[in-house]
Amino acid sequence: MLADNAFVTELHVRGAVGSTNDELRELSAGGAGEGCVVVADRQTAGRGRMGRRWHSPAGLGLYVSVLIEPGGRPAEATRWTILASLAACLACREAAGCDATLKWPNDLIFRGLKLGGILAEMRSAGSSSDRLIVGLGLNVSQEAGEFEEELRGAATSLRLVCGSGIPRREELAAAYLGRLGELAAGMRRGEWSAISRMWEELCPGCRGAAVRVLAEPPFEGITDGLDGAGGLRIRKSDGTTGVVRTAEKVVPLES
Ligand code: BTN
Repeated sequence: MLADNAFVTELHVRGAVGSTNDELRELSAGGAGEGCVVVADRQTAGRGRMGRRWHSPAGLGLYVSVLIEPGGRPAEATRWTILASLAACLACREAAGCDATLKWPNDLIFRGLKLGGILAEMRSAGSSSDRLIVGLGLNVSQEAGEFEEELRGAATSLRLVCGSGIPRREELAAAYLGRLGELAAGMRRGEWSAISRMWEELCPGCRGAAVRVLAEPPFEGITDGLDGAGGLRIRKSDGTTGVVRTAEKVVPLES
C-alpha cells in the first residue's frame, strides 16, 4: 500500500531505530532523494521540537520521516512544517474519522490534547540544494496508562479518541504520505495561499486568540493567521504586527 504511493521513491521499513529522522539523514548523505521514507516500529531516541524527547514505544505510534527537496529556499522551511502538519491532520480525519485540529506550527490536537507532531530538520547536502527531513510522530494505539507520567493529561491517541476501530499504522501512513504528496505538488504549483487557508481552517487558535510570545523580549497580542513563510502573525496592542518563527514559543493568555 505504501509502496504504491506515487510520492514515495524509496521505502525503508525498520524495527527499532534511534530516530527515523537520523536514519533518513544517513540515507540522504548516501544519495537518497525526495520521497525517500523511513518508517519504524519503535524509536529509542525519538526527538520532538525544542529538544524534547518523543517517547516512541513499539507498536503504539506511527513514526515516519520523509525526505523533501524544498527547492533551495531554506527560509521557507516553516512552510513545509505547516504543509506536513496539514497532511497529517487530514489523514487523521480521512483515515480515522477523528476531528483532529492544528496548533501552530506543528501540533496535531484533539480537544486540547496532543495527538501528534511534526519535526522538520534542515539537512545541508554539500553542493546540492538543502534537504528537509520531515518526521511525523502520531499517537495511535496508546491506552491512557501507556503514556509516560509527564504526558498524562496532555496527550491522547487515536484509540482513545475513536475506540478500537482505528486504522492500522500502515493505512495511516499511506493516507499521510498521499496527502503530503498532493500538497507538495500544490506548493510547487504556487498554491501556498490555498494551503495556508486550509491549514488556518483547521487551526482554531490561529486567528483572534490572545497569546504571549516567549521571544526576546516577550510580547503579547492577538493571533492573525499565517504569513507568507508560515510564521504566525500577532497583532500587538500598539497597532504593529509581529511574526513568530518556529524557535519561539507561543502560549495562550489566561482570559
Ligand atoms: C513534536 O511535536 O515535538 C514533534 C514530534 C516529532 C516526532 C517524530 S517521530 C518520527 C520522527 N523521528 C523523530 O525522532 N522525531 C520525529
